[in-house]
Amino acid sequence: MSNVVWRGRDAEGDEYVVSVGSRRDADRFLSHMEAIVSETDRLLQSPEDELPDATTQRAILDQLDRLKNCLCLIAYRPRLVRQDLLGSLTLLGGTTRRTRHIAKLGMGVRRTVWRRGIGRRLVTESLRWAERNAIVERVALQVYASNTAAMSLYEDMGFEVDGRLQREVQLEDHLEDLVTMSRPTSLEAL
Ligand SMILES: CC(C)(COP(=O)(O)OP(=O)(O)OC[C@H]1O[C@@H](n2cnc3c(N)ncnc32)[C@H](O)[C@@H]1OP(=O)(O)O)[C@@H](O)C(=O)NCCC(=O)NCCS
Repeated sequence: MSNVVWRGRDAEGDEYVVSVGSRRDADRFLSHMEAIVSETDRLLQSPEDELPDATTQRAILDQLDRLKNCLCLIAYRPRLVRQDLLGSLTLLGGTTRRTRHIAKLGMGVRRTVWRRGIGRRLVTESLRWAERNAIVERVALQVYASNTAAMSLYEDMGFEVDGRLQREVQLEDHLEDLVTMSRPTSLEAL
């Protein structure tokens, strides 16, 4: 349990923990991804897009653990038997010298537990990590222009709108804009 970064209760009083995902979480991470892409159309990935197999997912989680400017956080109920994930967040740092100071944030929380503070907790813990990180100087993200729920969370957490990618996402019946947002990792720079 040494990977646990936070332990507490959600808004309904149910206990959960946030920990750094590792290769041992590959199966439940994949199940979680499969669930959230079906529960919401606010992600870039759709249910029709193929997910990695378990071996590849283990390798991805290993790599995120190893790379100094990357992070994978997972939220789940602390029980003896390994529980399904409630939420996940990744920070993917740039891969070149010129971009490694930027980490791109992506996240999703299971619909059954929306509005219980889990999303906010995941962002808070990721920013706490980023603030202490020696490489990452800025956290950036892209969000559907219509996703006002996520945008208000990000604004609350100090993110500001940088710009807009016009008609970037093909949905069933229309093309949707993406809003790009970012914030510095140092609170003093805000
Ligand atoms: C966006 C998302 C991560 C929020 O997770 P969550 O656990 O429900 O968020 P929280 O309960 O911590 O809420 C944090 C804040 O987000 C905003 N928010 C969340 N859901 C909202 C809703 N349905 N309507 C309006 N604001 C909402 C509120 O500002 C909220 O703060 P408040 O509860 O104090 O008012 C979750 O809804 C989700 O996974 N959505 C689908 C995938 C997605 O949009 N991912 C982001 C891609 S960029």
